[in-house]
Amino acid sequence: MSTNQSTPTQRIVVLVSGNGSNLQAIIDACKNQQIPGEVVGVLSNKADVYGLTRAENADIATVTLSHKGFDTREDYDEKLIEAIDQFQPDLVILAGFMRILTARFVQHYQGKLLNIHPSLLPKYQGLNTHQRAIDAGDKEHGVSVHFVTEELDGGPVILQAKVPVFEGDTADDLAARVHEQEHRIYPLVSKWFCEQRLTMGEDCAMLDGNVLPVNGYANE
Ligand code: GAR
Repeated sequence: MSTNQSTPTQRIVVLVSGNGSNLQAIIDACKNQQIPGEVVGVLSNKADVYGLTRAENADIATVTLSHKGFDTREDYDEKLIEAIDQFQPDLVILAGFMRILTARFVQHYQGKLLNIHPSLLPKYQGLNTHQRAIDAGDKEHGVSVHFVTEELDGGPVILQAKVPVFEGDTADDLAARVHEQEHRIYPLVSKWFCEQRLTMGEDCAMLDGNVLPVNGYANE
């Protein structure tokens, strides 16, 4: 099925490690034809996560590839590449996939590998972003969608969404507020990619041929 004769439906593979609410938002946006793409495979490094159930409920093929039992990160990523490539993806989406990726993996999918990170990058790379924002006394926090490069949480930002931090917020309160925004911006960025409007340049993201600012599209 194609929504536009000049843009064939893009094949999307999503990697998860947990709940998969971002996966769900992307599945729904494909079903509603907001994204000219189809999620053709979902992979998880953990068995029995709800993200896999969401995929099964949508009749999407799943693969569980546990990282346990591999001697090196390189060995695991090599198998992961094999598992992903059997789906012949145009776009690979990390949606709460909690693994540090090898250079080989990142290079293999260069320019077609997206990640969502729950902070206003370059702030708070790594883990526990919500608590770190609260501890720092930040008045605003948010989420970033970016192209993945070899630098952890460091690739070019495509789009961010901001949320306020209120007095007395817990990390869970903030996570819930951020999640709402995640479910808006990840499908939107995926749509841009599948419409072939979004590309990765040298150290930058480009939309419709224009270099995006370092904080992504429409920063304010
Ligand atoms: C999301 O909040 C996402 O930003 C975060 O994991 C969560 C997954 O939620 N990703 C990272 O922390 C990556 N460094 P989900 O499984 O419900 O989509």
